[in-house]
Amino acid sequence: MHSTESSNIKIEVVKNKEAGGKKAFEYIKEAVNEGAKVFGLATGSTPETLYQELRESDLDFSDKIAVNLDEYIGLEADHPQSYAYFMQEQLFDTKPFKETHIPDGMAPEEAEVERYNGILEKHPIDVQILGIGTNAHIGFNEPGTSFDTKTHKVKLTADTIQANKRYFESEEEVPKHAYSMGIDSIMAAEKIILMAYGKNKAEAIEKTVNGPVTEEVPASILQQHPDVVIIVDEEAASQL
Ligand code: GLP
Repeated sequence: MHSTESSNIKIEVVKNKEAGGKKAFEYIKEAVNEGAKVFGLATGSTPETLYQELRESDLDFSDKIAVNLDEYIGLEADHPQSYAYFMQEQLFDTKPFKETHIPDGMAPEEAEVERYNGILEKHPIDVQILGIGTNAHIGFNEPGTSFDTKTHKVKLTADTIQANKRYFESEEEVPKHAYSMGIDSIMAAEKIILMAYGKNKAEAIEKTVNGPVTEEVPASILQQHPDVVIIVDEEAASQL
């Protein structure tokens, strides 16, 4: 395994998604023990095994704050494909937090961007959980997004719409836009834990870890963060 000189990224290779969930859980537990209060949370299939570990654990989040990365524009919070709904089901219904925040997919752009950036300023993130898109997007920051962005409205790429259509009845139903925390907001977190499983993430992981830092590969900026761990299964690590 090799990595770029400037990078502080720690790589943890695990057998599979289940082992990845357990590994990520260990990091969260350590952070909780060290006093972490604000958790940046992610959606998608990748964090599911972590959320299962959290649900089954005796960790107490009742004095913690959750701030989610992103939400589809045009979906109500009670829509089964909304990220708000996903978080309730996966975590919050079982593990209540003191406060949970997620962009409001029904709110108008200007007001929502301002509101969410206000939340991020008020609650600086201690630990940020991330998945990664096959095109190396983080949150919904698609290739080409400026590294300087805070919360913003995003036009989803065709790749992302393709990848996410499995959750919807048809491709037409996949929202075309989302609100996402920006790269700058993600980089402000004290610690970042990115997880990736499966062959279809191998190229994105390779570029993230070893490639040039470029806005064409959004996750490559993580090479410049002081405290990043990437938890990958053997398939996702196969091009490292
Ligand atoms: C979505 C989310 C990302 C997530 C990515 C990968 O587009 N906005 O936060 O990391 O998909 O999803 P999955 O974990 O299902 O592969």
